[in-house]
Amino acid sequence: MRRKKHLDERLAAANDVLFVLESREFYKKSKEEKTALFDLAALFGNKNPVEIEFGCGRGKFLAESAAKFPERNFIGVEKLSNVIVAAAEKAKKAGLKNAKFFNLSAENADCFLPPRCAERIYLNFSCPFPKNTYANRRLTSGRFLEIYKTLLKAGGEIWFKTDNMHFFEWSLESFTAHGFAVKNVSLDLHKSGFEGNITTEYEERFLRCGMPIYRLEAYVL
Ligand SMILES: C[S@@+](CC[C@H](N)C(=O)[O-])C[C@H]1O[C@@H](n2cnc3c(N)ncnc32)[C@H](O)[C@@H]1O
Repeated sequence: MRRKKHLDERLAAANDVLFVLESREFYKKSKEEKTALFDLAALFGNKNPVEIEFGCGRGKFLAESAAKFPERNFIGVEKLSNVIVAAAEKAKKAGLKNAKFFNLSAENADCFLPPRCAERIYLNFSCPFPKNTYANRRLTSGRFLEIYKTLLKAGGEIWFKTDNMHFFEWSLESFTAHGFAVKNVSLDLHKSGFEGNITTEYEERFLRCGMPIYRLEAYVL
C-alpha cells in the first residue's frame, strides 16, 4: 500500500490514542521493558476489563463497541499504519476515552501486551490468505492462537466472524487442534437471531452482496 500523504503528521496528531510500536527504538528494548511500557490500567486510567480486536482496520467496530460499552476498554491492533490512523482519528473525533490503538503486527502482540490482560479477543473478517503456503499468516493459525492464549484471562473468549466458508472451516479445526472449544456457532449470523451484533466495515460490504456471515466463540478448555 502507498504511504498516504501527510501520514506522519496524522500519526503524530493522534499519538495520545495511537501507539506505533514496531519502530527501531521499540525493537531495541527487552521484552520486559516493552511489556512494562504498557501498564493498561495506567494507559486507560482505570482497571476496567480490556477487549482487543486484532486486524481492526479503519475501526468502525472498535469505535462503536467503545461507545456502546463505556465500562470496558478497547484496544485495536492493526499492522498497517495507513489504515489504523483512520481508526484512531475516528475514536478521537467521537471523544472516546476507552479506545486505544496499537500499530503492531499480531505476531508481536505478546511483546507489548501483558499476559492475561484481555477478557475477549475479536477477529473480524481477518484476511483468509487462501493459498496454503500462507496458512500461517491467518490470524486463526496455531502460532497466533498460542499468543492469544497468553493474553486471555481465565474464562476469556475469542469472537470470530468471517464471510469465507473455507476459512471458517479451517479455523474451526485450528481452534480445536490448539486446545479451544467452540460455542454459539452460526453459519448465517444475520438470520440467526443473535442480538447486539456490531457490524464492521467489511461485514457491511458482504451484507450488501447478500453473503452469509459465519461466526463462532472460542474459549480455552
Ligand atoms: C480484511 S481486513 C478487516 C478489517 C476489519 N476488521 C473489518 O472487519 O472491517 C483485515 C485487516 O487485518 C489486518 N491484518 C492482517 N494481518 C495482520 C497481522 N498479522 N497483524 C495485525 N493486523 C493484521 C490487515 O491489515 C487488515 O486491515
